Amino acid sequence: MITKETIEKVLDAARIEEVVGDFVDLKKRGTSLIGNCPFHNEKTPSFHVSVAKGIYKCFGCGAGGDSLKFVMELEKYSYPEAIRYLADKYSIGIEEVQRSPAQLAAQDKRESLYVLSAWAGKFFKEQLWDTPGGQAIGLSYFKERGYREDIIKKFDLGYSPDQWTALSDAAIASGFHKDYLKEVGLSIERDDASIYDRFRGRVIFPIHNLTGRIIGFGGRTLKTEKSVPKYVNSPESEIYHKSDVLYGLNFAKKAIMDKDTCYLVEGYADVISMHQAGVENVVSSSGTSLTSGQIRLIARFTKNVVILYDGDAAGIKASLRGTDMLLEEGLNVKVLLFPDGNDPDSYVQRYGSSAFKEYIDAHQEDFIFYKTNILLKDTGGDPIKRADVIREVVQSIALIPDEIKVSVFLQQCSRLLDIEERVLLTELNKMRLQRAKAQDKKDAAASRPMSMDMPSPDMPPADFFLTDAERSDIGLPPAEAPLVITSEILQEREIVRILLNYGADLATWEGDGDIPVAPLLLHAMDDIVFEDRPSAFIIDVFRKKAEDFEIPEAKFFFSHEDKEVQDLAITCVSSPYELSPNWNDDKRKIFVKEERAHLKTLTIQAVYRIKKRKIEREMFKIREELKSGAPDVDMEILLSKYQKLKEAEKLLGSFLGNIIVK
Ligand code: UTP
Ligand code: MN
Repeated sequence: MITKETIEKVLDAARIEEVVGDFVDLKKRGTSLIGNCPFHNEKTPSFHVSVAKGIYKCFGCGAGGDSLKFVMELEKYSYPEAIRYLADKYSIGIEEVQRSPAQLAAQDKRESLYVLSAWAGKFFKEQLWDTPGGQAIGLSYFKERGYREDIIKKFDLGYSPDQWTALSDAAIASGFHKDYLKEVGLSIERDDASIYDRFRGRVIFPIHNLTGRIIGFGGRTLKTEKSVPKYVNSPESEIYHKSDVLYGLNFAKKAIMDKDTCYLVEGYADVISMHQAGVENVVSSSGTSLTSGQIRLIARFTKNVVILYDGDAAGIKASLRGTDMLLEEGLNVKVLLFPDGNDPDSYVQRYGSSAFKEYIDAHQEDFIFYKTNILLKDTGGDPIKRADVIREVVQSIALIPDEIKVSVFLQQCSRLLDIEERVLLTELNKMRLQRAKAQDKKDAAASRPMSMDMPSPDMPPADFFLTDAERSDIGLPPAEAPLVITSEILQEREIVRILLNYGADLATWEGDGDIPVAPLLLHAMDDIVFEDRPSAFIIDVFRKKAEDFEIPEAKFFFSHEDKEVQDLAITCVSSPYELSPNWNDDKRKIFVKEERAHLKTLTIQAVYRIKKRKIEREMFKIREELKSGAPDVDMEILLSKYQKLKEAEKLLGSFLGNIIVK
């Protein structure tokens, strides 16, 4: 188990902008950083990072948290995995409490699969570098292909010996469980329950996830017989979801952001050769057609994609496929073909790095024009075929979300196709209409709300606090899952919000001197039982800490195991709005501007409101009892109770009426 001290060190060191910045292209906007949310599909950024608070919050999908939560959610890490990842990122040594065999056995399965994959990666590497067979067959193969040693090492390339059970035996001897070997696909089980190696006599290309952990392998045969499959790949597993992985992205992400372009190639070999040539912003879909998950992965880092393919017929067809999805995501797509059946790998190896770089700089062509020209070539003047071409080209243009780009493309294609722009436009509108209809149907079925427009990126709306009625008052669509939130809950959450945001601020109450808000507030709330579960929890922590004169910080709750507590804390500090149910726009503006300046009013109001509400409820109960006329009801006592409550209510009411927000 990782020690508490290490965890604290890691959490202290983690800078949210750096942790998120490894995955999301963040741009400065006002006091926060914004980018496209990695947790849902979006084209306009609603993902905010607050450096000061150390948290992120997406106002499109609601995801939010601190550095730790970010890597946990994004990489599907467990708590210890995430700590390890951050520790590694900040070069913090991990101190561990010795684990018992029982704890070891209980270690979570995903982590075991990662550990096994890392172990296998090391096994293949050692086979390559340290065994006569590996050196003679694997290493010499890579060298013949022109790979430098530093590149072979960088990509963790390896070799699997040409034996049936070399890896399986070694893994079992190292204590790995057969079930896990099967799960990650390193071993395959026979009918008699014995296992054998998936990768035999192949050079190995490990596949890494975004954080650089090995999640699968591709193994290339060294044989030339057609009957042997060229590549054998790891199957899908709990840690390897092929449709969400791009080969090389972990090595490429920095360069992709720096160059604001991503090269997309077909194979492992292309990625590696291009790195060796100094072009590092390159990834591969590993022979499968692009998935929307992979496209979204790219779109997190850049909007510009260049597809590099072999110049053969299959390569050209491949470049046409999958591209529509890229256009739809709002990406700028260019295409680049290599001459004479070369692929990026063979071109680099044949002509060298600088010729390669010159070639790719000079031969990029916008996808739409490329497609138009390719299709036109095939028509041979046949008017019917030409009409098909026009339709196909317009279909692609119709996918582009950016209107300016659309009109430029229409103009230029009208020239290429020698057809009036007006005709293209009519065709385009027809297609869009059809698409909109189809989309409407889909939307109706899914009925997901649209993400909202931000009034200002620094002050995102706190819509997640609002009931549907309140949302509709200010013109928002209903929340995704209708929040069943009463105004009492809102009042309680408002108290929590004040505590989390201003708990340690000094309040200057007449006669009290300078005392932090938290103890004052807690004292005033002594008699209040909180009903909202997460609010009650947070208040409870505050109360307990207050006994030691401590004021918990908001971040204490950000990665709390209780998701509702976590969400509430994050929501509270993400939102500068006053969240009581009867806020109006004027009030809101004032609060947004200078909430801190009105801390006293804010606090007293929150307290009184919640008290008034509870009193009203008590009074209601008494009235019901009186009305019931049950024989055991002591009218006198009830009436005097009622009277007292009534007075208190009046007092609070007049007090609330008198505090007008200045
Ligand atoms: P390529 O045949 O272009 O492979 O297939 P490559 O990486 O360039 O390898 P070399 O240059 O021939 O050594 C492109 C990708 O398609 C997948 C692999 O991911 C490969 O990198 N593929 C190909 C398979 O999964 N299985 C196959 O049998 C062939
Ligand atoms: Mn190749």
